[in-house]
Amino acid sequence: MSQNKRVLVTGAAGMLGSQVLLSAPDGVQAIGTDLVEAAGVQEVGVDLADERQVFELFERAGEIAGVIHTAAYTAVDLAEEQEELAMRVNGTACAVLAGAAKAAGVPQVLVGTDFVFDGESGRAYLEDDEPNPLSAYGRTKLAGERFALEAYPEGTRIVRTQWLYGPRGKHFPGTMLGLAKERKQLKVVDDQTGSPTSTLELAPALWDVLERGEEPIYHAACEGDCTWFGLACETMAAAEVQGVEIAPCSTDEFPRPARRPVHSVLDCGRLTTLRGRALAPWQDALRTYLGSE
Ligand SMILES: NC(=O)c1ccc[n+]([C@@H]2O[C@H](COP(=O)([O-])OP(=O)(O)OC[C@H]3O[C@@H](n4cnc5c(N)ncnc54)[C@H](OP(=O)(O)O)[C@@H]3O)[C@@H](O)[C@H]2O)c1
Repeated sequence: MSQNKRVLVTGAAGMLGSQVLLSAPDGVQAIGTDLVEAAGVQEVGVDLADERQVFELFERAGEIAGVIHTAAYTAVDLAEEQEELAMRVNGTACAVLAGAAKAAGVPQVLVGTDFVFDGESGRAYLEDDEPNPLSAYGRTKLAGERFALEAYPEGTRIVRTQWLYGPRGKHFPGTMLGLAKERKQLKVVDDQTGSPTSTLELAPALWDVLERGEEPIYHAACEGDCTWFGLACETMAAAEVQGVEIAPCSTDEFPRPARRPVHSVLDCGRLTTLRGRALAPWQDALRTYLGSE
């Protein structure tokens, strides 16, 4: 990206958005926006599903070079009860942003999810595989993809990711480390497979897609895969936590309102070709993250 460009980053108070702000390339000024105040958030309280608010935001921002949209309704289980609200944030807001980005003539990167797939394919998902979401969250995120690609195909890039963790926000490795302080035994689901992905790895990839991406959809996850049980064991080992016994269990033992894909591994070849390298292996990225805490 050329020097002194300004880029809007939505969800800038969130787990991923906060890291996107911190990893802005040299010479790029990231303008963070979110509903709540947080470090680096310059535009507080803009509801992205509200067309008028979004167009005013673009006006205030002045000349911008692009948008990275990480804001979302991310409460996967609660979305089963609040699908309308989730659709407003994950669906409508993408249509609104696409309209504003198109009017401004700038590219936009929208962050998507592996939850658009049903996890039944038995192999890593390609970008063009048929989605079949199992949950309200997945349906609303898929709607957002489609609204944006329909409204602004030439300027929209979707980056689907999964199993995120990072320096800010609530996530699985953090939850496990917290529980390990309270309990000597933990049971963790061992029949769902995915690729744990550090926001430290993903955020720079989003900037690269904004600058150079030409395909409508990319998949972006750390290399390799594991189950939640595998991730819990690796987290304890990497953080050198001792004296906690972790036992594998099945999803049936931990029923949740939203169904999750059983085997949701993303084929990230397209992104690897774009960047000339894959995201780091998940175990390495986890250790880097834990070392940065
Ligand atoms: N976390 C994962 O494992 C995962 C996996 C796959 C894909 N993703 C996708 O990655 C992206 C980032 O996820 P994350 O985990 O970083 O999410 P997050 O921490 O929940 O951050 C999302 C941010 O968006 C804000 N937001 C919600 N509704 C909004 C609205 N109407 N207008 C403006 N901002 C709004 C939220 O504010 P409030 O907190 O105040 O609501 C929050 O600060 C999302 O698109 C998500 O779907 C995440």
